[in-house]
Amino acid sequence: MERVKVLVTGGAGYIGSHTVVELYAAGYQPVIVDNLSNSSLDVLEGIEKITGVSPLFEKLDCTDIDAMRNLFQRDKGIRHAIHFAAYKAVGESVEHPLIYYRNNLVSLLNLVEVMEEQGPSSIVFSSSCTVYGQPDPEFLPVSEDAPLQPAQSPYGKTKQMCESILEDTIKSGNSKLNMISLRYFNPVGAHPSAHIGELPRGVPQNLLPFVTQTAAGLRKELSVFGNDYNTPDGSCIRDYIYVCDLAKAHVAAIDRLQSMHERGTLEYFNLGTGRGLSVLEVLDEFMKANSLEVPFKIAPRRKGDIEQVWADPSKANQVLGWKADTPLDQIMKSAWRWEKRIRNL
Ligand code: NAD
Ligand code: WQD
Repeated sequence: MERVKVLVTGGAGYIGSHTVVELYAAGYQPVIVDNLSNSSLDVLEGIEKITGVSPLFEKLDCTDIDAMRNLFQRDKGIRHAIHFAAYKAVGESVEHPLIYYRNNLVSLLNLVEVMEEQGPSSIVFSSSCTVYGQPDPEFLPVSEDAPLQPAQSPYGKTKQMCESILEDTIKSGNSKLNMISLRYFNPVGAHPSAHIGELPRGVPQNLLPFVTQTAAGLRKELSVFGNDYNTPDGSCIRDYIYVCDLAKAHVAAIDRLQSMHERGTLEYFNLGTGRGLSVLEVLDEFMKANSLEVPFKIAPRRKGDIEQVWADPSKANQVLGWKADTPLDQIMKSAWRWEKRIRNL
């Protein structure tokens, strides 16, 4: 049987590349488009090493509506898309807000517009737990019903605005689209093969890449941003989700969208483990899993950090039939294996 095509915008990126692998394993035909602004063609080789198949790829900028329209006109078989393409650095978005608004909003607008032209079709959108900000204690763990909070950064605002664009499209009552917005918590780790993983530019802002780079000797020590929060060990708490588990949730979302008969739907799912881990616990788990010592110091709080947030993933567990269940030590080992591979250690 012919494989059902799934367009994967930003498919050469961190989460996109892992999702391409899982789509392929599940019997879909991923079609990657990426402008390579935060990724490289090497990723395609990594995907090929895992799947045994050279992925379909086109270098394309999703902000270019003519290029997007042209893609769909050439390939009328594409009825499903997963939209990863976006800029994602919170700090950079504060410095260059317009670049973030243009890239993240125009990319999504173009995709929605051309897919409406295609006729009945579906979109999975990469959203973020950032839309919840710091939930009040009664909303922890965070379910999809928790109130949204004003975003702290232009990046966060683009995620909220993109969700509003999807919502208003559906509210119009004449949309032919079915859509799912996936709110990721903190994606971590790499494919167990170490052929694909996360490639942060410059000094990593995210915790685990900083830990692995410190373990590899690229950084002197990890700064733990604050140990005076109102948490059991004083450091911040997050829900760290393994990137391969996250990738599988996208397959589950596409499966669901494919089997839908009604048109004009939008659903939200929180994608996390349901387990909150503190910064110090993450560090400890990483060191234990890899039998390593990672130098660290306690540093002042980082501006804008949220004290604690973790997911209630029960809706995704029940409705998508998906669960993030990779053991923590495997996740930590995968992150280190990947760092060693890219540093030739
Ligand atoms: P990434 O930067 O590794 O991947 C994004 C990919 O999109 C890159 O390959 C980049 O080259 C491409 N891209 C960017 N703008 C484009 C454009 N206009 N046209 C075509 N390609 C474009 O990021 P990621 O971590 O894989 O994140 C994927 C998505 O998930 C993003 O939308 C991000 O906001 C969202 N997200 C990420 C996290 C996280 O912590 N990594 C958490 C929540 C949500
Ligand atoms: C995790 C914890 C830090 C680095 C960001 C975005 C969010 C989402 C995911 C996309 C925090 C602490 C970190 C370090 C540290 N992205 N830390 N030392 O802040 O939860 O979320 O990425 O949507 O929008 O804001 O993730 O990995 O930066 O930090 O102590 O060197 O690790 O203070 O408590 P965060 P993170």
